[in-house]
This record gives sequence, C-alpha cells and structure tokens, in this order.
Amino acid sequence: MHQIKLTTPSGNTEISVGENLSAGLKTLVPTPVLLVDEHVLCEHQDSFDSFQSISIPSGERYKNMHTVENIYRELVNLEIDRSSMIVGVGGGLATDVAGFVASTYLRGISFGFISSTLLGQVDASIGGKNGVNLDGYKNIIGNIRQPSFVWCDLSLLKTLARKEYISGIAEVIKYGAIWDVEFLKYIKDHMTGLLNLDLKVLEHVVTVSAQIKVEVVQKDERESDLRRILNFGHTIGHAIEREKKVMHGQAVSVGMVMAAQLSHNLGLLPASDVDIIQNLLKAAGLPFELELDPEVIFQNIRKDKKKSGEHIHFVLLDGLGKTLIKSISLSELKPMIDDLC
Ligand SMILES: NC(=O)c1ccc[n+]([C@@H]2O[C@H](COP(=O)([O-])OP(=O)(O)OC[C@H]3O[C@@H](n4cnc5c(N)ncnc54)[C@H](O)[C@@H]3O)[C@@H](O)[C@H]2O)c1
Ligand SMILES: [Zn+2]
Repeated sequence: MHQIKLTTPSGNTEISVGENLSAGLKTLVPTPVLLVDEHVLCEHQDSFDSFQSISIPSGERYKNMHTVENIYRELVNLEIDRSSMIVGVGGGLATDVAGFVASTYLRGISFGFISSTLLGQVDASIGGKNGVNLDGYKNIIGNIRQPSFVWCDLSLLKTLARKEYISGIAEVIKYGAIWDVEFLKYIKDHMTGLLNLDLKVLEHVVTVSAQIKVEVVQKDERESDLRRILNFGHTIGHAIEREKKVMHGQAVSVGMVMAAQLSHNLGLLPASDVDIIQNLLKAAGLPFELELDPEVIFQNIRKDKKKSGEHIHFVLLDGLGKTLIKSISLSELKPMIDDLC
C-alpha cells in the first residue's frame, strides 16, 4: 500500500492506494454512514452491506440538487449527527455528490472517500472539489472542502466497465504529458499490464498520478493558476463532449492530441513528441482523431468561455512534461480550431 498526504488551507487528506482497502472500513471510528453509487453497492454488497448506507443514483442526469436533497432527508431520518462520519463510495459522480452533502449537512460533518473508478482514483476524488450540475451546467454548484481520507481501492476496479476503465487511462497519460516524462515512458513500457489490471502496474500508475495531482493542488488549491494545467486537452475535450456521444476520456484523448498539435504549430513541441502522445493513446485503445465540425467545436468553446471570463487559458505543451498556459482570445482561436479540425 502507498500513502500520500495532501495539505491545503481548506484541510488535509490522507490518500491510500492499494488492494482490498474497503475491508478496513470496519475499523473506522466513529461508525460511518455510506453514500454509495448504486452500481458499486450492487457489485460489492459483501464489502458495504453491513453499514448504514444511502444509494446514490448513477448517471450525470442525477447529479443535481434533487438528489442532494433526497440524501439530506435520508440523513435526517437516520438521525445522523455531527459525531458521524460520511463515506462517499463510488466514482467521481458519487464522491462529488457525497463531498457536497457532507460539507453542507449540519454545516459540514467529517467525510472520506472510497474511490471505485480509475478516473476517480487519479483525479476526481483528490483536490476537494465537490458539487453538482444545474440545468446542463456541469459542477456549477459546489465548494472546496478536503475529505479526511481517500482510499483508492484497486480491487474495486475489477467490476468497472471496460470503457470506463480505458476512459480513465486518458487522465493518466495526461499527467505524464504535463508533468513527468519518466512516467510517460513507464506507461508506454507497461501498457499491457495496465490494460490487464496488473496490480503492481496499477498501484504504481495510480500512486504517481495521485502524487502529481496532489503536488499541483497543494500549490494552487483554488485554480488561480497552476491547477489549470490539469485542464490539458480539456478545452477542446469538453467541446467534443458536448457534441459527440463519447465518454470524457475519449473526448479528452482527442483534445490532448489537438492541443499537442497546436503546441507543435506554435513551435513549442517537436512533431516526434506529438507522435509519442498520439501513439500512447492509441495503444491504450483511446481515439486520437474524430470527424469534427470546426464551427461547432468553436461555438462550444465559446459557450464554455462565458463561464470563465474574457480569454481562454489554453494549456499547451512546452516540450513533453512541461506546460505553458497561453491566454488566447476568441478571434485568435477561430483559425487555430479551423486548422486543427
Ligand atoms: N471533483 C473533481 O475534481 C472532478 C474531476 C474530474 C471529474 N469529476 C466528476 O467525476 C464524474 C465522472 O466520474 P467517473 O468517470 O468516475 O464516473 P461515474 O462516477 O459516473 O462512474 C461511471 C460508471 O461506473 C459505475 N461504477 C463506478 N465504480 C464502479 C465499480 N467499481 N464497478 C462497477 N461499476 C462502477 C457507476 O455506477 C457509473 O455507471 C463527473 O461527474 C465529473 O464531473 C470531478
Ligand atoms: Zn478530465
């Protein structure tokens, strides 16, 4: 088992990565109430059945205030008070919802997460962003509060749908691309093990990814600057996600190739490094190109921009493992997108 500490102004988290961690829940004090993703509850009854638990419906359309309200009511009915601890169990959706509920119920009670998806373990469960969607706007209601622990239980990944698992690999490759060339090489050399859920490989990959996210969040919890680098591939990725029926990781995969290509076009990244990223994504079974309408992609980026201010902070690669955030105006971006599509 590996452990990592996250220390921020809004709280500290002990992150553990290993096998069968859920078994340790029994020794957790005080008695926890679990907020569990419905599929995880169904697939892992033995691990979670003996606890008081509330099911979180699966699917982005249920990630809203209605679900949050229902959970508050169940907590009241169960007479959960400040001496209790809430444990969110599931992927990014369940931990985002559980973190929001726990940090607002009774003005906030202590909470932790057991993360059950690859994306959750390397990304969503770490960093303290909790929240829900409203009227199609993703994660627009929320807060930043750190859970006291995050357990990345690798054993839970065995029941995760294959496409969800592969989607998570896109975020893993992202960490290598933006932060750590050695890690990128490790992923390349151990891709077969990673795809086969080899525990040794998985433990290393989840630990290093979590460590990178921790380093970035510790330096910039509130996304004023550095934390933006985690959005590599996401500006275009989100625009693709709005348009095409593809999963987050698939959209980000194409978004990363396009951002790498743009970095090359701007003279920052050699073509051979664009190929390295592209080949790695391909080896993972992720898409590296899609038929895209440049006008639609541009309009989608514009809609996202409405939420974030005047300029787009585009994350580019200034060589592999290094990033450069370029502030790009819409008029500058349009021909770039035309070119990339
Ligand atoms: N807070 C953050 O910093 C942050 C970062 C990235 C993403 N997110 C959020 O994370 C969410 C996406 O997370 P995700 O990709 O983990 O998806 P998810 O939580 O929706 O889970 C994907 C699917 O897998 C199922 N599932 C989860 N674990 C399973 C397991 N072990 N076995 C079988 N089925 C399992 C779920 O029921 C669901 O159907 C989005 O809502 C996104 O906004 C948050
Ligand atoms: Zn992402």
